[in-house]
Amino acid sequence: MSRLAIRHVSCRYGPVVALEEITLDVPSGQCLVLLGPSGCGKSTLLRCIAGLEQPSSGAIELDGRPLAGVPPAERDVAMVFQDYALYPHLTVAENLGFGAKARGTPPAELAERVAACARRLQLEPLLERRPAELSGGQRQRVAVGRALARRPKLFLFDEPLSNLDARLRSALRAELRALLRELAVTSVYVTHDQVEAMTLGDRISVLRAGRLEQAGTPAEIYGEPATRFVASFLGTPPMNLLDGRIENSQFEASGAALVLAAPGRPAGPASVGVRAEHLRLAAEGPLRGRVVLVERLGHEALVHVELAARPGRAGERAVWIARAPADCAAVEGEAAALAVDDGAWKFFVGRSDE
Ligand SMILES: Nc1ncnc2c1ncn2[C@@H]1O[C@H](COP(=O)(O)OP(=O)(O)O)[C@@H](O)[C@H]1O
Ligand SMILES: [Mg+2]
Repeated sequence: MSRLAIRHVSCRYGPVVALEEITLDVPSGQCLVLLGPSGCGKSTLLRCIAGLEQPSSGAIELDGRPLAGVPPAERDVAMVFQDYALYPHLTVAENLGFGAKARGTPPAELAERVAACARRLQLEPLLERRPAELSGGQRQRVAVGRALARRPKLFLFDEPLSNLDARLRSALRAELRALLRELAVTSVYVTHDQVEAMTLGDRISVLRAGRLEQAGTPAEIYGEPATRFVASFLGTPPMNLLDGRIENSQFEASGAALVLAAPGRPAGPASVGVRAEHLRLAAEGPLRGRVVLVERLGHEALVHVELAARPGRAGERAVWIARAPADCAAVEGEAAALAVDDGAWKFFVGRSDE
């Protein structure tokens, strides 16, 4: 059991600020997901934890022990990479045992650990093969098994499923989730995939351009996004948003005919958002427009509604997406109104590019 603490960590590459003042905790046995778009600093933070990179400032502690100056090999941290990084000349069994053997695990125990990992990850029939003779999914299982066999204090995963096709990715995602729960290993899992973040993380930290944008449980991040960025990064489709202003406790959208009560909220630029599942096609509603697209997905339909412009502002066109039953009667080209569930409006204060 082990806990990770990251305190005010910044990391610069010359003029590039890859990480700025990151503070977060991973309690023992939990999985923290670092979620964010490409280039936001996820791998840099993992590399700092692993000791492959030196933070410019700040501290990282594992079980209360500061890691500054501790070489990677002595950190008791195992990392699983996107590209598997297996040893091509070694068999699956040798790859599985490599890290543990290098750390002086006695032969009998080593054999036992390799056997247990092979059993757990369904690699038993493949033990004598070499990586070139494996599929992508099998290779990534070996990479995960190699990390497991080391029994490290901390697991770091850097987009481990990104190179797999969609089907394998969801199968391996479910396996990883079961594994992380069963073994209760402390782990940091980096991804730009919001489904992986939602399903694997006990908590999610959303990174944007090197800064921590929001941290919380998956339900909090999805249901109560703190910023527009988080609202539009999570969810398929992402949260519907409209920019505008608040004046005298009233929100007025700039691109659509919408005025909303915003009691107690500060005057100035603001946005509002509603998740697709909280919108209903109705005879009446605060949002009116025209159906421009109906995507029938089998189990549901996504109805795209182009909102009517604000009077005199025909230039801007906002399209909102409502989740509807698969057999919904929406017809492309026809007028529609959207009703909004109680409590579903989210307000975001500040300009949309902040
Ligand atoms: N070795 C490096 N030298 C210079 N810049 C780097 C280096 N590694 C990463 N960066 C920059 O730091 C930022 C964060 O990169 P990275 O942590 O790899 O992002 P992510 O893993 O989220 O895609 C990017 O702008 C990237 O270009
Ligand atoms: Mg990366």
